[in-house]
Amino acid sequence: VTISVAKSGGNVTTNLQYGAMEEEINHCGDGGLYAELIRNRAFQGSEMYPSSLDAWSGVGHSSLSLKNLSDPLSTALPTSVNVKGKGTVGLVNAGFWGIDVRPQKYTGSFYVKGSYHGTFTASLLSSTGKVLASTKVPSKGNAHEWVQHEFVLFPKKKAANTNNTFSLTFDASKASDGSLDFNLISLFPPTWNDRPNGMRKDLMQALADLGPKFLRFPGGSNLEGQTIEGRWKWNETIGPLKDRPGRATAWLYEETSGIGLIEYMEWCDDLNMEPILAVWSGLSLSGEVVPEEELDFYVQDALNEIEFLTGSVHTEYGALRAKLGHPKPWKIRYVEVGNEDNLSDGLDSYKAYRFQAFYDAISAKYPDIQVLASTIDMTIPGKAGGDYHLYDVPDNMVKQFNMFDNFRPDQPILLGEIAATEPNNGVGINWDDKNFSLYPWWIGTVSEAVFLLGAERNADKIIGTTYAPFLMNLDSYQWSPTLLSFNSNPEETARSTSWHLYSLFNHNHMTNTLPATSSDDFGPLYYVTGVDKKTDSHIFKAAVYNSTAEVPVSLTFEGVGRGTKADLTILTAADPFDMNEVGGENMVNSKTTKIKAGKKGEFSFKLPNLSIAVLTTN
Ligand code: AHR
Repeated sequence: VTISVAKSGGNVTTNLQYGAMEEEINHCGDGGLYAELIRNRAFQGSEMYPSSLDAWSGVGHSSLSLKNLSDPLSTALPTSVNVKGKGTVGLVNAGFWGIDVRPQKYTGSFYVKGSYHGTFTASLLSSTGKVLASTKVPSKGNAHEWVQHEFVLFPKKKAANTNNTFSLTFDASKASDGSLDFNLISLFPPTWNDRPNGMRKDLMQALADLGPKFLRFPGGSNLEGQTIEGRWKWNETIGPLKDRPGRATAWLYEETSGIGLIEYMEWCDDLNMEPILAVWSGLSLSGEVVPEEELDFYVQDALNEIEFLTGSVHTEYGALRAKLGHPKPWKIRYVEVGNEDNLSDGLDSYKAYRFQAFYDAISAKYPDIQVLASTIDMTIPGKAGGDYHLYDVPDNMVKQFNMFDNFRPDQPILLGEIAATEPNNGVGINWDDKNFSLYPWWIGTVSEAVFLLGAERNADKIIGTTYAPFLMNLDSYQWSPTLLSFNSNPEETARSTSWHLYSLFNHNHMTNTLPATSSDDFGPLYYVTGVDKKTDSHIFKAAVYNSTAEVPVSLTFEGVGRGTKADLTILTAADPFDMNEVGGENMVNSKTTKIKAGKKGEFSFKLPNLSIAVLTTN
């Protein structure tokens, strides 16, 4: 295939191209990115998932019972645990299916109510009961109020595995009626950037190494909730943890809201990501829709949320943000209205009044914000953009390579959820049987590369692309495959085959695409060509899908002459079904070679079937 790339005439990219998407699913927040080690730390529950003692057990003969006391820790956290017994009693937490114990500082706290004249013992224990770290915490408890106690633990050695627990004990004979009430029992390892209430380091490292340019949050279906009342309420995710009630996720478990609106923004700050904020749009997953005459309240709530993030300290909600320690406003350039409003019978009302109401109100107050509809299955008004999601078999990902060629640049589209989910052994996806691959696998990844190349060729119209869902805890998940998979052992985190694709494309960023002419049509070689004007590096990104032989390529860039050097990186895998598993090895081979342009400025190389490649001139 001979490809000649022109000097000018392409488009200017949005500069975002590859990002991340996060919603609470697969225990990717609680039990994942959110570094909290104690599962069910505050016995949060809802009508859908009632409070329980999940993850807790009693020490020895201690009896544990959930109580809704008349004077709870807070209205947000009404349920606490009463621990009763004789002698040394207490409770043990199994963590998020294990606790990683190594020589580092663990910061813990718990609230107690009850008169107690003794000390508490906080410990990390192995599965055989060996003490890995332990500390005494003198009681400040009394019968009249909830008192917070703080402690640190320093294990001397790394534990043999993560099959460890946390225990908190006390001497019941020194408690007034042999029992005490506990709530919000928390333990954190060191976090990314040492933020209190922060993020798990290995997962943040995997994200930092990926270099996402934006973060779409907080959903996903989880934004929507099962009912109108169960929607993601931004104002219940801010402030002290004791004032965050948590909520029923869309994904079969209760979330703590430990990662709340502010934590999302801090996360964007930490990884230099552009926030793409999704606001609730008046549709819940059950199909309940807010009628037009009642929508104002929710539109105003979205405006309040944006003011909370971006308003000066002289605004009502900007002042609230300042009170919570963030006087400096954040910048929001993208707001998406809802999630998949084309589903759950939501499209008619979205088209008829819901989207327009949010679009008009947000654009009027914040003209610099690019408002996005959560679908492209409608005529999008004015300068609004849209969001397109695709979960499909590899062949169908490839078929959509040309999809964006005729889109409008003034109505930019986010590719907010993209993944090859199951092999080509049937036609299309059977949504009733979500028997998707556990991990991204190599052919799927190559087909995603083809789709991404189609998007990047239209990088003025496509805001950016993100894989979804992004993460899963292998010990408890609802939806695979994901870009990153993990368990409680940070050393076993798997960066998927698709992670390697996104990382390669992301780290070779084009500021402008450049048009190319070719001897052949697209397929089996798919590509995009462009330049990074900041470094003057010319770039070729490609993927080979379904070729019977190696594809020879002769590539010239107008103005790039004989002898110019370039790096050519080719990703391959030994088997089309190779996948990167938790605790397993990386199956993606990455080989970078230095090549030189020949007499006519041509770069000559061969790309094997099922390969992904990037060439950048030096
Ligand atoms: O990514 C998993 C789910 O897929 C998202 O929550 C939803 O938006 C989509 O249907």
